[in-house]
Amino acid sequence: MTNITFYIQPGGFLRGRLRVPGDKSISHRAIMLGSVAEGVTVITGFLEGEDCLATLKAFRAMGVRIDGPEQGRVIVQGVGLHGLSAPKGRLDMGNSGTSMRLMSGILAGQIFDTVLTGDASLTRRPMRRVTEPLTLMGAHIEATKTGSAPLHIHGGQRLTGIDYPLPVASAQVKSCLLLAGLYAEGLTRVTEPAPTRDHTERMLEGFGYPLQRESDRTVTIAGGGQLQGTVIDVPADISSAAFFLVGATIAPGSDLLLEHVGVNPTRTGVIDILRLMGADIEVLNPRLAGGEPVADLRVRHAPLQGIRIPEALVPLAIDEFPALFIAAACAKGVTVLTGAEELRVKESDRIQVMADGLNALGIAAGPTSDGIVIQGGTLSGGAIASHGDHRIAMSFAIAALRASGPLLIQDCINVNTSFPGFVSLARNVGLTLVEQKA
Ligand code: S3P
Repeated sequence: MTNITFYIQPGGFLRGRLRVPGDKSISHRAIMLGSVAEGVTVITGFLEGEDCLATLKAFRAMGVRIDGPEQGRVIVQGVGLHGLSAPKGRLDMGNSGTSMRLMSGILAGQIFDTVLTGDASLTRRPMRRVTEPLTLMGAHIEATKTGSAPLHIHGGQRLTGIDYPLPVASAQVKSCLLLAGLYAEGLTRVTEPAPTRDHTERMLEGFGYPLQRESDRTVTIAGGGQLQGTVIDVPADISSAAFFLVGATIAPGSDLLLEHVGVNPTRTGVIDILRLMGADIEVLNPRLAGGEPVADLRVRHAPLQGIRIPEALVPLAIDEFPALFIAAACAKGVTVLTGAEELRVKESDRIQVMADGLNALGIAAGPTSDGIVIQGGTLSGGAIASHGDHRIAMSFAIAALRASGPLLIQDCINVNTSFPGFVSLARNVGLTLVEQKA
């Protein structure tokens, strides 16, 4: 298979303005809810990355007419909650945990069987967190002995609502159960150990489906309703903006404006953590776009201080830790992360892979069972194995701004899963990055 290597020259700074691509979580949900809604849904700002395209193709394979994406515009002809048809073969979710976990909830309520599979990383990731509660609701799902994909979801089961306290703070599991709840008899009630991203709840309401939010941790949905097609403007993804928030913060001389970024409070942990470390980030022109808060973010270089990261912020910054570890490596003093064992089961073991990469660049970074301890220092040049993890690749690309020698990052093809166009956008604002097909 063709892969991509990044070569980055050390030093420099980031200046100018840019709009990173659409939010991955919101793009997935827009396709899913649009497909099972009545009538037409028009999406703009859709993320044309491999992960969201896997969701789009899966619904096409189940008979939904979806036009686009064309410059981020997608038109979904919804078939209603009971209008999906059996796909011809397995549904390949690629690298995308969100596709697999959220769709399991929808597919558990269908009258036909489906098999969900994915790439080497996805088929290693834990799926019991969704198959167990779905089974409690009456679903019939077969997984591998270790509880991972391929998942064979049997159709024709009667689902019943459950009252479920989530063992892990996971928006994917919460969303999976809410989507299954659309098909269940009675009430499905989910309580999280800590608040996680609430895009599913907001979007269900946007599709005219009622929910009860009892607190910021408990949500209840009743089965048997209908979703009405709507218009969705997807904001820029704060998880993609995060690389530039960190890059501009660590590189002297930087001054960057990130436009139309989604700043839903369940996603802004990265801003809070960087500010606690001393970053200079201004949130400008706050506004609403299709039920989601959006703003422009101005970020300028600032010296950083190591901190103990508050555990309450972990779920609110869960995808941004690879980038935050680069900030910690450039900070004065020690940064300590705890309560983040979930990072070990992302697209890679992000604690181990980031520690190895930082060590390769001369930074003392010690993994712990549920986090990491990073001693700020001087980054050297060197070679990094990204383990096919998009966020690891982009985090080290940004680290080059403070490295003393060139960086070579291997296995970067999966940057396309979440951030197509990363290389040219990063080059436009000052990163000396070239990619080479290997
Ligand atoms: C996501 C939730 C998070 C996040 C993932 C997207 C979502 O996963 O890491 O990239 O869209 O719901 P978990 O729910 O596993 O924490």
